[in-house]
Amino acid sequence: MIYGERVRLRAIEREDLPLFTAWLNDPEVHAYLDLIFPFSLAEEERWFENMLSSPPAEHPLVIEVSEGTAWTPVGNCALGKIDWRNRSAAVGIFIGEKRYWNKGYGGDALRLLLRHGFETLNLNRVYLRVYETNLRGIRAYEKVGFVHEGRFREAEFRGGKALNVLYMSVLRSEWEARQAQ
Ligand SMILES: CC(C)(COP(=O)(O)OP(=O)(O)OC[C@H]1O[C@@H](n2cnc3c(N)ncnc32)[C@H](O)[C@@H]1OP(=O)(O)O)[C@@H](O)C(=O)NCCC(=O)NCCS
Repeated sequence: MIYGERVRLRAIEREDLPLFTAWLNDPEVHAYLDLIFPFSLAEEERWFENMLSSPPAEHPLVIEVSEGTAWTPVGNCALGKIDWRNRSAAVGIFIGEKRYWNKGYGGDALRLLLRHGFETLNLNRVYLRVYETNLRGIRAYEKVGFVHEGRFREAEFRGGKALNVLYMSVLRSEWEARQAQ
């Protein structure tokens, strides 16, 4: 497991799947994700089986929050599209328990994932894509050091609108400079 002070990242268990399905079917959560259709538990189970045979470095991790002596699952994050030659990866994240939004847990989880990416996997660049309408996400990413890279204009159609998609990234040099501060 990957431990921070308030948050830890752990491997997904089959028992987590009903919770994931509920989160991913919440319109306020999936509005910002790359999901369009309602999502069944059977589809989630098939995703889980496929995931098990994907490279371990790309397995999504459960975000858990420390509460007293217990750890509460609140969401999910992952590094994906790992390109070992260019030492680059994409990051994806969601907090499905909405009462945990805006408390800094997303930022904490991203810091752990970046540390893992740079200090364990030896990556050089971690990037993400986010809808320009996702102001909470953009703010969370800026806070942990993601830099704006570019805007893909009207790249995706969601909720009856063509949305701009922003690309943001953190380079290893930027990560190291922040650690030194
Ligand atoms: C995006 C997400 C992972 C961020 O995690 P989080 O724990 O809520 O974020 P944090 O608390 O670390 O940071 C959120 C910041 O955005 C700010 N914020 C919230 N709503 C905002 C708004 N409408 N406009 C501007 N800033 C906003 C918060 O105040 C906070 O900044 P602050 O600490 O300076 O006050 C989480 O909210 C989430 O999963 N949302 C739904 C799914 C999603 O968007 N996934 C990402 C797809 S790219």
